[in-house]
Amino acid sequence: MIDRLVQAAEVLSARGRVVVLTGAGISVESGIPDFRSEEGLWTRYDPYEYATVSAFRSEPRKVWRMLAEMEQVLDRARPNPAHAAVARLEAAGVVEGVITQNIDGLHQAAGSRNVVEFHGCHRTLTCLACGRAFGRDEVRSRGVPPPCDCGALLKPDVIFFGEEIPSRALEESHRLVRACRVLLVVGTSAEVAPASHMPWLAKRAGAIVVEVNLRPSAITATITDLHLAGPAGEVVHRLAEHVLAGRGAAARTG
Ligand code: APR
Repeated sequence: MIDRLVQAAEVLSARGRVVVLTGAGISVESGIPDFRSEEGLWTRYDPYEYATVSAFRSEPRKVWRMLAEMEQVLDRARPNPAHAAVARLEAAGVVEGVITQNIDGLHQAAGSRNVVEFHGCHRTLTCLACGRAFGRDEVRSRGVPPPCDCGALLKPDVIFFGEEIPSRALEESHRLVRACRVLLVVGTSAEVAPASHMPWLAKRAGAIVVEVNLRPSAITATITDLHLAGPAGEVVHRLAEHVLAGRGAAARTG
């Protein structure tokens, strides 16, 4: 593994313009279960019953039972070394931006500044009946599920199946992947479109695809150039260490 890690660090250092695409796997070591692994959320909640916008509209209280469980986990979660490493690579000018499928806000909490929340976030909520918007903290005192002033139940601004990806997030993601020279893909099964299109767009634009995942994903055998198999918290941290050490050495030798 070490030589592949060094090889990947050399690719990131030599090419620069790195964009990071992350999925639930990067936050598992922060205590947030992913969706499709053995312990994943979808092994306990059927996404067709709990994660579609039509399910929310027809049975909001039922969907809020899952959302409330997620909220408790999200409120306790803190960034792990993988989130911190991505933020350090951005601060060093290696990473240009992060496209995350996660709604947990951990990239921003770790210090990443250019973060595209492809599937929205849980920090704000909207009423599907009257359209009013609220901050999460603004409605905490209303209990779970939180009602809108109009009486309908509020929905977190996360993108459910059947909802459009926000156009600004889609446009910014396309801009980032088309201009990147390396796409670092961390902790995603790469099974859910249109997020799963991003690695293909990057590849078509000439980028090298480096993947960090415990196991192969839907792109590993096709477009991944370098697969670093292991936990994101350890692998991304060590990858950043190698890149930043190399840059430090280069700076000293001028
Ligand atoms: N380190 C690295 N990779 C990990 C780790 C870890 N500690 N733990 C899990 N993984 C990997 C798994 O092997 C898997 O490939 O992370 C991936 C998680 O895949 P999913 O559970 O499918 O999550 P994700 O790819 O983010 O799902 C995409 O689907 O259900 C929707 O909206 C939801 O944003 C989500 C989207």
